[in-house]
Amino acid sequence: MVRLYHRVKARIATMPFGLSIGSLAVLVTAVAVAYRYEGTTRDTGPCRAIPGDSSWPTGDTWAALNATLGGKLIASMPIAAPCHTTLFGQANAVFNPDECATLRDHWFFPETHLASSSSPMAYAFSNNSCNPFLAPAAPCTIGSLAVYTINATGTADFQHAVRFAKRHNVRLVIRNTGHDYLGKSTGAHSLTVWARHMKAMSVINYHDKTYTGLALKVGAGVEVIEAYRYASSQGLVVVGGNCPTVALAGGFTQGGGHGPLASRYGLSADQVLEWELVTGIGEVVTVSATRNSDLFWALRGGGGGTFGIVSSLTVKAFPDTRTSVASVTLLNNGTNTDSVYSAVASFIRDTLPSLVDAGAFVVWIAAPFGFMIAPAIAPGLSSAELDDLMRPMTLGLEKLGLEFQYSSAQYPTFLSSYEALQETATWNVSDYNVGSRLIPRELATQRTENLVEALRYIASQTLMSGVSYNLARGNISAETVAVNPYIRSSLFSVTVGTPIDYTDWPLTKIAQDKLTHDLLPSLEKLTPGGAVYLNEADFQQPDFQQAIYGDNYGKLRDIKKKYDPHDVFYARTAVGSDEWAENSNGRLCKVRG
Ligand SMILES: Cc1cc2nc3c(=O)[nH]c(=O)nc-3n(C[C@H](O)[C@H](O)[C@H](O)COP(=O)(O)OP(=O)(O)OC[C@H]3O[C@@H](n4cnc5c(N)ncnc54)[C@H](O)[C@@H]3O)c2cc1C
Ligand SMILES: *[C@@H]1O[C@H](CO)[C@@H](O)[C@H](O)[C@H]1NC(C)=O
Ligand SMILES: *[C@@H]1O[C@H](CO)[C@@H](O)[C@H](O)[C@H]1NC(C)=O
Ligand SMILES: *[C@@H]1O[C@H](CO)[C@@H](O)[C@H](O)[C@H]1NC(C)=O
Ligand SMILES: *[C@@H]1O[C@H](CO)[C@@H](O)[C@H](O)[C@H]1NC(C)=O
Ligand SMILES: *[C@@H]1O[C@H](CO)[C@@H](O)[C@H](O)[C@H]1NC(C)=O
Ligand SMILES: *[C@@H]1O[C@H](CO)[C@@H](O)[C@H](O)[C@H]1NC(C)=O
Repeated sequence: MVRLYHRVKARIATMPFGLSIGSLAVLVTAVAVAYRYEGTTRDTGPCRAIPGDSSWPTGDTWAALNATLGGKLIASMPIAAPCHTTLFGQANAVFNPDECATLRDHWFFPETHLASSSSPMAYAFSNNSCNPFLAPAAPCTIGSLAVYTINATGTADFQHAVRFAKRHNVRLVIRNTGHDYLGKSTGAHSLTVWARHMKAMSVINYHDKTYTGLALKVGAGVEVIEAYRYASSQGLVVVGGNCPTVALAGGFTQGGGHGPLASRYGLSADQVLEWELVTGIGEVVTVSATRNSDLFWALRGGGGGTFGIVSSLTVKAFPDTRTSVASVTLLNNGTNTDSVYSAVASFIRDTLPSLVDAGAFVVWIAAPFGFMIAPAIAPGLSSAELDDLMRPMTLGLEKLGLEFQYSSAQYPTFLSSYEALQETATWNVSDYNVGSRLIPRELATQRTENLVEALRYIASQTLMSGVSYNLARGNISAETVAVNPYIRSSLFSVTVGTPIDYTDWPLTKIAQDKLTHDLLPSLEKLTPGGAVYLNEADFQQPDFQQAIYGDNYGKLRDIKKKYDPHDVFYARTAVGSDEWAENSNGRLCKVRG
């Protein structure tokens, strides 16, 4: 959604309106906080070792692990170290204001964090411990970053990590791209396994009782854009995300995964044929419809970071196709607000369902500046067909006397449409707290006025986006994947963001709480017993087991017990995580179960 925000900003800059998205900053909040469950529980069970404990592995023990790994152990260095005169409480030899200035300029790009073995894109999970936007005299410490990270190249490294963590009672974290909004790829006092550099890719002929055909096999660290490009070079497409840099085999697909081909083929998790992974007891297993099928089911949407460390993923590949895109921009100039929202209502009720039913994936955003469709992506359709599907909306806008911009284009391949969209996009991350809610189609089409009232409440204060799809067109039977089946009946997932203020950590906490306790509840009221999308949930989501996993939670918990009986893996809001809590030192302790 943040990418869209910047696209909007870029467009608005070129428009003759005084309204600026900068005024958004007044509204909201910010994130961050001491994200711990401090004070809510007493440590009742075993706790993980942390540095300073007598049981924490000695320097020699870590050196021995490093030797076993062939030198792949990295001691974490906060990436903002050049911004501070002290580092870990000592004079800082790498203090460098020029480097710091460059880092600040690049801070919001995913690439800044992708290259790091420890930096989370969701700033809240750094514990504000080495903040590049604070004065040089502010301390720079490790905070909640991993202590050590294994720069893994294969399953043998994963096995060493699992055995070491178990033997020494050290918290283990799995990191890939570091995109996770819930902080699941970060952990205080942890040993982290970093799967990013496992980049193998091949097209294979796959055959089992459920599928015969072409498939793409990717290593754990392959990014969506790398998979798109490789598939395209073979005349194929695979189902990936809207964001180019999330890991196809990582949290993205393990948590469901929606993207531009979702209304044609379904979720990314629906396409999985096989996973290879190392379990919590250090076994290398292959899981598929015919082997370890319980774990196969769990990894298809039950969430990353908790069942095992995935080394490869095999997904269905489909023939490439022409793809069309369309965009609409409608500005709220302060006097046309009612008309803008009546246009939003008729778009949601009359235009959106037929768009997604025809195979389009539609991303729209609403904010104080107005409303945008940015864009509708329609694999398989010509731009004339897409224009026809959009016409009820554009005619409606004309009838309401609203000024708007419309554009559409057709591309010969999926990749060319995707890359054209990237040209105008900036994937700015690390600047918003994020939370979401799934909106049932029935609510959107039968009780549109109630829904739009809630959307207006949110969008008059901050930025929100709706990722819209028809997830039934892929012909997947919902029981064969662990994705919460509620998502199949939804027309879109609403994502709401409140801005992070890097210079005011308490204000950022207030902004986060506004998301949790005010903005999202306006949608929860309309969707009692509803659900959220795992990969874009609010990390403070109340009753997260039900909201994220629905009725699958118990079965997922049992499967985790079977493959990770010692709870080697823990990730915030992941299956099994409710039995553990971080205390005020960031130490992870068993509290239940
Ligand atoms: C800018 C941005 C855009 C996004 N766009 C989309 C989108 O279009 N569609 C969508 O569905 N989601 C989107 N997301 C959400 C995205 O799916 C999640 O952030 C997801 O967790 C990313 O997975 P990752 O592995 O790349 O990230 P990481 O943060 O590295 O990992 C995420 C989770 O997966 C686990 N994990 C990672 N690798 C492995 C592995 N090899 N084995 C086991 N567990 C592993 C981690 O432990 C963690 O729990 C977006 C997020 C951002 C920040
Ligand atoms: C691990 O070994 C490599 C190669 O000897 C070395 O460069 C690296 O600094 C070591 N890691 C740690 C954490 O000491
Ligand atoms: C990213 O967002 C931040 C905060 O909104 C903003 O200050 C910065 O300019 C943005 N960066 C880019 C490259 O758009
Ligand atoms: C996080 O920050 C708080 C406040 O500065 C501090 O008390 C706590 O120890 C930090 N946690 C970690 C894991 O560094
Ligand atoms: C991690 O390993 C890869 C090779 O697998 C290497 O290219 C990369 O530089 C390493 N990263 C770090 C930070 O050591
Ligand atoms: C606001 O926009 C509407 C059309 O969208 C236009 O009719 C109206 O004159 C505009 N008002 C101002 C103050 O620009
Ligand atoms: C789903 O089934 C319908 C009807 O049988 C068929 O037309 C369509 O191509 C199928 N879609 C996919 C993605 O297999």
